[in-house]
Amino acid sequence: MKELDPKHIDALIAIVGEKGCTTDLEARKEYGHDETEDLNFPPAVVIKPASVKEVSEVLGFANTHGIPVTPIGARTGLSGGALSIHGGIGLSMERFNRILDIDEKNLQATVEPGVITQVFQDAVKEKGLMYPPDPASRGSCFIGGNVAENSGGPKAVKYGVTKDYVLNLEVVLPSGEVIWTGANTLKNSTGYNFTQLLVGSEGTLGVITKIVMRLIPHPTQDLLMLVPFRSAEKACEAVSEIFRRGIIPSGMEFMERDAIEYAMDFIGEEPVPLGAEDAAHLLIEVDGNDLDALMGDCERIAEVVEAFDCGEILFAEDQSKKDQLWKLRRRVGEAVKAQSIYKEEDTVVPRFELPALLKAVKEIGKLYGFRSVCYGHAGDGNLHVNILRDEMCEEDWNKTTKEGIRALFERVKELGGTISGEHGIGLVQRDYMDIMFSKGHLELMRAVKRSFDPNGILNPGKIF
Ligand code: LAC
Ligand code: ZN
Repeated sequence: MKELDPKHIDALIAIVGEKGCTTDLEARKEYGHDETEDLNFPPAVVIKPASVKEVSEVLGFANTHGIPVTPIGARTGLSGGALSIHGGIGLSMERFNRILDIDEKNLQATVEPGVITQVFQDAVKEKGLMYPPDPASRGSCFIGGNVAENSGGPKAVKYGVTKDYVLNLEVVLPSGEVIWTGANTLKNSTGYNFTQLLVGSEGTLGVITKIVMRLIPHPTQDLLMLVPFRSAEKACEAVSEIFRRGIIPSGMEFMERDAIEYAMDFIGEEPVPLGAEDAAHLLIEVDGNDLDALMGDCERIAEVVEAFDCGEILFAEDQSKKDQLWKLRRRVGEAVKAQSIYKEEDTVVPRFELPALLKAVKEIGKLYGFRSVCYGHAGDGNLHVNILRDEMCEEDWNKTTKEGIRALFERVKELGGTISGEHGIGLVQRDYMDIMFSKGHLELMRAVKRSFDPNGILNPGKIF
């Protein structure tokens, strides 16, 4: 890791003060990892600006002196987007932690990027409003990180992902210039859509300092059911059929048996009565304002799943059961990763192709000798594939991670899908971008990056 010139550190302290600057190695290591595998790339210095002016001055300084700047949120990312792989400045946005305005007249809110997603959701819920995107890490992730990665979560199936709520962004460009990307309006046909370009750009184009979000009225009722299946592929087949019957659930999650077992072990609770024959489960939620209509939806869903050889359906009878089941689902990722060294993939295909995707994962696993645990947002065709190393030797593991994952991604593309649905490309998927994009297409993306960041200081080495 390249150290920074002490003179540069002094100059940064002059901008953000002693309180906003950390050079201690232990602290830097804390800022050197997120939730991606066991990777750790400490920045040379952690800078914690407290105002837009400070962000602007830090970026302007870094730009003049060619110092890499990696924006850092709550470090819950799953593709290594916030890792300071070139050292330099780790720009932690944690002091930008205010909800600036909840505009009940327009159903909008303005927030700073360091607000925890669930804190924001709870604040708007108090006013009867909903901000739906709810990544598994919502209790600790920052909303700015969600914007940077275009995060999803279980509710995306009905309500859409982060991009569907972002109306306008205040962004500091690498030059230090501050812009608003759009307007606080629901419609906007005025020039290029930089708002949506910035969403999902993983901190490579600018540093987000304010976010204007669209909100919706909070539904008053929801029902949750857990359906066991004897065949995991059959569970996946049932998914698209439910939508074809005219029902849009507000959650449609898939968990393989192993995923549920590991998660129950991990949280020390057993909300699911696992039958000996259960291969996989669908966790299905419907929401709205009319309880009778929702009951009707559940009956129709039950009719569909019964045609796919399901076991006994469990209906969550009260809020505490619902909470328990959702807690189980949210902790699957952590629980599976506690089993072994792993690689997590975030594949997504058109919904009807989900059974074919699951089949491909297992076939490729057999070919390369790896075990996988799959779970995810079945209603979106978004399957998280955890590839476990278990007892595999170094050589086989290298073959799996290089060739096996490539084979999987190529199949995903054949199925009309893509290599990340909601975790981003960051560091760990960048070597596979050639599967999805031609040389010319990638060059066009690089040209966009250069026009925002001609000196390549902002989150270098990510996406490409
Ligand atoms: C989840 C995260 C891993 O769905 O995206 O649990
Ligand atoms: Zn997910």
